[in-house]
Amino acid sequence: MELLTAREEDLARAARALREGKLVAIPTETVYGLGADAFNESAVARVFEVKARPTFDPLIVHIARISDLKKVAREIPVFAQKLAEKLWPGPLTMIVPKRPEVPDLVTAGLPTVAVRLPGNAIARRIIELADTAVAAPSANPFGYISPTTARHVVSMLGDRVDMVVDGGPCDVGVESTVIDLTGPVPVVMRPGGMAVETIESVIGPVTIQQKHAGPIVSPGQTLSHYAPRTPLYLFDADSLPRSAMAKGIERPSAALVFDLIRARELEAWHAFDEVIPLAPSGTLREAASRLFSILHELDRGAYAAIYAERVPDEGLGRAINDRLFRASKKEG
Ligand code: TXA
Ligand code: MG
Repeated sequence: MELLTAREEDLARAARALREGKLVAIPTETVYGLGADAFNESAVARVFEVKARPTFDPLIVHIARISDLKKVAREIPVFAQKLAEKLWPGPLTMIVPKRPEVPDLVTAGLPTVAVRLPGNAIARRIIELADTAVAAPSANPFGYISPTTARHVVSMLGDRVDMVVDGGPCDVGVESTVIDLTGPVPVVMRPGGMAVETIESVIGPVTIQQKHAGPIVSPGQTLSHYAPRTPLYLFDADSLPRSAMAKGIERPSAALVFDLIRARELEAWHAFDEVIPLAPSGTLREAASRLFSILHELDRGAYAAIYAERVPDEGLGRAINDRLFRASKKEG
């Protein structure tokens, strides 16, 4: 595996490697992606293999400019065009009807394709130089925490990828919001880095698909996902640490809190060995950008358990709560 910088000559090498069918991990504003030429079926097959990802879970195709949408989309729904104009580049993935040229492996045989124009200029430059579309899931083993630094990718995937482009830590820190625009009403399949409120300001009301244990609709919706190896227990904002103590706290323990000031006021927080603020400045944006890094770090530590509390369920908070929920131990 080769570690590349964000210098132009390195981006050109990354682009060439993609064209040759190699796997290149690239920075995006959300998380690092494990990129392959979307039109090269054997390169895409390696992505599934490296991640140990089931082939029923389709990939997101990344493009470098809005006009490239028509290279993968058979038809561009009106709402997709509006959202692209207003919110791209950015952490928004749109599901649209797929062109036959997009390999079925990319879309898991679905007649639709998920497309994103990333906000990260390094990602866009690589895709532009490669002159193709890049299929890229998050660059982590299936089910594990997504990477928000190049180091996370190197430590999780190492020599299983050909190149890793280091673009520094990801700005947004949680994956893109996935919205299905193929039906009569837009449906948010995965909350993410683009707030639902912002999407609604462009196209009006959308439906948010509820998490359920039934048949898999959007396969990234499996309930156990983004999970650290250390058990993580999730609690409502005001019930940690009381509820954790009632359950019995495993030691050594770490508590993950949103509001550190409140945490400091409560005597009960001393029940934990370490109390970590998700957002020292108190913003959901900061909490999102630090979430996966903190989980990676806690998972390297010697904690027996992680106790986390939900954040306010608005804006980026929806994505944070969704990831915390998926990372958590479910009863029964
Ligand atoms: O921010 C992101 O979205 C990152 C960066 C690298 O762009 N990528 C990412 O990819 O999170 P991945 O593969 O980890 O998640 C893709 C999600 C999955 O939940 C998948 O099921 C859903 O998108 N998806 C992809 N194509 C779909 C389709 N045609 N219909 C429904 N869901 C789809
Ligand atoms: Mg993922």
